[in-house]
Amino acid sequence: MPLPVPVFSSYGSLTEPTGIDLLMEDLGRAFNNDPQMRMLGGGNPAAIPSVQALWRRRMAELLEDGDSFDRMMVQYDPPGGNPAFLRAMAGLLQQEFGWPITPEHLAITPGGQTAFFHLFNLLAGAGRDGGPARRVLLPIVPEYIGYAAQGLHRSFFVATPPVIEDSPDQNRFRYRIPFDRLPWSEPIGAVCLSRPTNPTGNVVSDSDLGHLIDLTRERGVPLLVDNAYGLPFPGAVFTEAKPLWDEHVILVLSLSKLGLPGTRTGIVVARPEIASAMRRITSVSALANNNVGQTMVLPMIQSGEILKLAKHTIGPFYRDASARAQGWLDEAMRGAGVDYRVHHSDGAFFLWLWLRDLRITTWEFYQRLKERKVLVVPGRFFSFGLDEPWDHPDQCLRISFSQPEQVVREGMRIIAEEAARLSKPRAIPAGNLP
Ligand SMILES: Cc1ncc(COP(=O)(O)O)c(C=O)c1O
Repeated sequence: MPLPVPVFSSYGSLTEPTGIDLLMEDLGRAFNNDPQMRMLGGGNPAAIPSVQALWRRRMAELLEDGDSFDRMMVQYDPPGGNPAFLRAMAGLLQQEFGWPITPEHLAITPGGQTAFFHLFNLLAGAGRDGGPARRVLLPIVPEYIGYAAQGLHRSFFVATPPVIEDSPDQNRFRYRIPFDRLPWSEPIGAVCLSRPTNPTGNVVSDSDLGHLIDLTRERGVPLLVDNAYGLPFPGAVFTEAKPLWDEHVILVLSLSKLGLPGTRTGIVVARPEIASAMRRITSVSALANNNVGQTMVLPMIQSGEILKLAKHTIGPFYRDASARAQGWLDEAMRGAGVDYRVHHSDGAFFLWLWLRDLRITTWEFYQRLKERKVLVVPGRFFSFGLDEPWDHPDQCLRISFSQPEQVVREGMRIIAEEAARLSKPRAIPAGNLP
């Protein structure tokens, strides 16, 4: 007799196919089975040789010092994280930014991704107060693909299309928070923003972030700031932006983009009630965290060396990579005669390309590119929480530039060739007619 199909609970929403699922599958297949694939899709950090060498040296040091290695391997940490790491991290944030952070303000999680999953479902959805289900407001979309399916309640996210500032002479554009259209009339449990933003590379300005902090404080709503690429580490920020924190701000950092995604380490910085809620969630769902990442970086957090690594190595590496990638993309697009825009690249590892004249959606375009062995991420997966249709994301795609030059350059050339083939001809302005 065939086994009956189990009836999943509402938790089963996590098992439905999603954009992040497709992206991780593509990424895994490309890295493991298809060496020809030009991988411009994933958010994998680059293997920066000097940084990888640093982590290798640190691991060798731990292996030589048998005690530290055994402690790292054989002991469960408390669920909130390694006490020495929490003390060092609080000290670093106090010293660097003057924030009143103590170890009680911190909670370690198995990666930033897990931190968001728990924070979202803690702060939004059906409340214990019996009131209407609260939603997570995304002040700017497109926003990180990895949030899209994390809510366990229907209509979890809410957003409105951003303001678009076009700079046609430079083929650049920028999204801005639509402050006068934010949907505050909805029941809002939290507001969330990635800064730098994945997928666009936008770094929302200090003044816009300050304004958002004021608006959320007035309403008593927590503001989640996703610092996966930000300051003080990993430091993939190319503008003068400063990180900001307040009692109602929940900042989430990660060791992943330092070149340590395999250690699955996220760091939540929040007022003690939230940090302790996160610790309890970890003890129930995971007992404790992976402590390899915390042990690896501890001496660099204690000495402040991590700030130098971010500022002098990781930041410049991605800033230069972005400048070069923009140059190659401009050259390829202009050479192919395509009308295009790229979002200003203020940080992170991506270029966000807008192809207004494409005759097909970027979802279809992505599939054509895949046939030509170029992997990108189509724009629609970064657009969620919108109650009204918005076709702009179907004209956009995300290109990662963290892979080696040859891969990125060839990928961009192929994207430009395909875009030229699949774009509507543009009317020539009357003044330019021969
Ligand atoms: C914006 C953003 N937030 C969070 C994450 C999660 O990272 P991790 O779980 O590796 O810390 C990522 C990963 O790429 C990301 O791009």
